[in-house]
Amino acid sequence: MTPKRAKTELGSAHVFLTGGTGFVGQAVLERLLGSHPDTTISLLVRTKGAASGEDRLRTLLRKPVFRAWREAVGEAGVDDAVARRIRIVEGGLGSVPALPADIDIVIHSASTVSFDPPIDQAFDTNVGGAIGLYEALRASGSTPHVVHVSTCYVGGLRKGVVPEARLGHRIDWRAEYAAAKSARERVELASRQPAQLRAFMDRARAEHGKEGPQSVARASEEARVAWVTEALVDAGRTRAESLGWTDVYTLTKAFAERAAEELWADAGGSLSVVRPAIIESAVAHPFPGWIDGFKVADPLILAYGRGLLPEFPGLPDSVLDLIPVDYVVNAILAAAANPPKGEPEYFHIASGASNPLPFHRMFENVNAYFTANPMPTPGDGHVRVPTWRFPGGSKVERALRRRRSQLDRRERWLTRLPSTARTRAQLAELSTKKSDLETLENFSELYRAYVQTEIIFDDANARALHAALPAKARRDRGFDVTEIDWEHYLQEVHFPAITTLTRAFSRRPEASATEGRPVKQLPERTDVVAVFDLEGTVVDTNLVEQYLWVRSAGFGWAAWPASVASILTKLPAYLRAERRDRGEFIRTFLRRYAGMPAAHLENIVGGGYADRVLGHTATAALERAAAHRAAGHRTVLVTGSIGTLTAPVASAFDEVIASEMHVKDGQLTGYLARPPIVDEARANWLRQYAERGGYDLSASYGYGDSHADLVWLELVGHPHAVNPDSRLAREAGRRRWRIDTWKSGSRAANRALMAGDPADAIPEEGAGGS
Ligand SMILES: NC(=O)c1ccc[n+]([C@@H]2O[C@H](COP(=O)([O-])OP(=O)(O)OC[C@H]3O[C@@H](n4cnc5c(N)ncnc54)[C@H](OP(=O)(O)O)[C@@H]3O)[C@@H](O)[C@H]2O)c1
Repeated sequence: MTPKRAKTELGSAHVFLTGGTGFVGQAVLERLLGSHPDTTISLLVRTKGAASGEDRLRTLLRKPVFRAWREAVGEAGVDDAVARRIRIVEGGLGSVPALPADIDIVIHSASTVSFDPPIDQAFDTNVGGAIGLYEALRASGSTPHVVHVSTCYVGGLRKGVVPEARLGHRIDWRAEYAAAKSARERVELASRQPAQLRAFMDRARAEHGKEGPQSVARASEEARVAWVTEALVDAGRTRAESLGWTDVYTLTKAFAERAAEELWADAGGSLSVVRPAIIESAVAHPFPGWIDGFKVADPLILAYGRGLLPEFPGLPDSVLDLIPVDYVVNAILAAAANPPKGEPEYFHIASGASNPLPFHRMFENVNAYFTANPMPTPGDGHVRVPTWRFPGGSKVERALRRRRSQLDRRERWLTRLPSTARTRAQLAELSTKKSDLETLENFSELYRAYVQTEIIFDDANARALHAALPAKARRDRGFDVTEIDWEHYLQEVHFPAITTLTRAFSRRPEASATEGRPVKQLPERTDVVAVFDLEGTVVDTNLVEQYLWVRSAGFGWAAWPASVASILTKLPAYLRAERRDRGEFIRTFLRRYAGMPAAHLENIVGGGYADRVLGHTATAALERAAAHRAAGHRTVLVTGSIGTLTAPVASAFDEVIASEMHVKDGQLTGYLARPPIVDEARANWLRQYAERGGYDLSASYGYGDSHADLVWLELVGHPHAVNPDSRLAREAGRRRWRIDTWKSGSRAANRALMAGDPADAIPEEGAGGS
């Protein structure tokens, strides 16, 4: 029972705080430092990367939540507090170290707050962490009052009023914890079954076969790891639902309460359980609108402002139970100052019972805010936010499924079309639409529990505790939710805070926005290499066409129809080989040169063939190579084909890396002297080339057109997808690489450029660079 007159002061208590680096924890720490100057605070902080607990504290104290306190005490005061009042207990919830024997108050705020983490992680942190903490406390000899921070949603899926009391379930939470802990081992084993591995490999081969065997293996293993995570997330979600909870977060928070009750309160410890609702920015302290990143409701609010949520599967009269963070902190510290005399006490720090904000009222507020303060679109326009009609959850979800299959169908169709600037723009637009749809799907899933339920959290205990505080404390450190003016809070405090925070008044750029971006000035360096792929990038041609040019230029027109016919009959086999492995295709196709006199091929290449090639060469490629040379970069042309065929454009580059064909008795045998330098072989060549030549790959440039080029393009700091095929275009869009469209220039212009006389290189209309 809360006393008639509650205390507010913590005096010289030694407070042990977990989660002090989190949203709620840092605000608790700030209040302890500023308003309870005689307390000593031990913080459980885990190391992160190279940062020790002490390093993390120093970084933490520079955050905005501490600004007013820092200004008030000055830098000397901060140093003094760190030296005298704050002790770092380095460790995580998975391995709570030995705790001091003189702790008076514990505030356990640390938790994983993600709704759907893998089942083992959620249980490890939330349940295992609570067990570890209470066992360590019992071992320490301390007899503190524990304030265990939980959540209102801990009672699971239900309707009506939820009391502030011990949860009624009789689930064997220890058995659930044991099952969750062993889930990873089971799923890992299942993921390694041959049938499952075959499925990963088949998918990886279809997607990455052209990049080479190592890429396939990497993609296959990535798919396995993703499958394991997905299965563990699903295991958590499904187990929670099957037990009557919304998600694994609320389920594990429920079991954490049980751990606190059984391991601490039932063993004679003093326990208060504080259950906040959805915590959002501060009304007043440390300053109006303070928030540490986006919290639960904010992505939804901002997605609406960006026009991404045409409709939403919420119940208009369900209550969106928001609570400002300063109310939560004040309630935690008020509870901390007033330990229960016997049984544990429970407090719902929520607004739904005493000052409800129905979802339709929240919607009206968001709509009014973004109508008055619209977000800009990438052009000069502004987002016009939609009006929700609340058609009901299942209708919205059916519409989402329909939209998903429409977009999937369109993507399949577009990736089969030849890659042009237009199809690439359409693919990029589609990818934006798909990611917007994903946002909507995720939100519908995540917020279902909060906006489709009809729960009211009784707050009688919290109100009684507040009423028992002295009048001054109620004004300065109160948590009376009836005082919240929702319109003022949302319009003047919370929405401005999160929209300022995001700088999101600039929508993320479209994936296609890289296409046609102005070319940056090249830095002058001699340790930079610029690698140009030949076929499809520098020269708009392929091996088949090159072969036909050789035949027509060197063997007279009589040979032409026969060559064409013979290629046509073999085309399906060539295409199959190309799909499997580009190296295999090159090897198979180059056999056609068997028996051709080597000297004759050289003559042809220097004559009519060169004319053809120059008429199909991108002027932008030659200009770009010249610009790299001028900046002191080493320019390298790379082809999987034979070096002889590159002769017409070779002089535009410092070096040509190509295969050579074996010659016997003056005739080409059709066999390559070494394997073609394509996909992974090209990546390996590039690594070695850079190492031997002392080139800095992170500052180097690559230009390629095919998905097979991905594996070496990703080695350089400045990758360029030039006239990319659909798959490279999709990857380049995803990775924000530059996408360029290069067109063939005129023979004259290209010849002038090759001769180093750009003034004569008058581009033809429509030709030229990016
Ligand atoms: N935010 C809300 O809307 C909301 C609503 C209701 C209830 N709550 C409850 O309020 C409490 C605080 O939430 P929050 O919003 O402040 O969360 P938060 O910002 O995500 O902070 C979580 C804190 O827990 C720590 N932590 C997580 N795993 C840990 C581990 N294995 N070992 C040690 N520390 C670990 C984090 O430390 P690192 O910095 O090292 O990661 C961080 O300090 C939680 O108990 C949560 O369930 C929150």
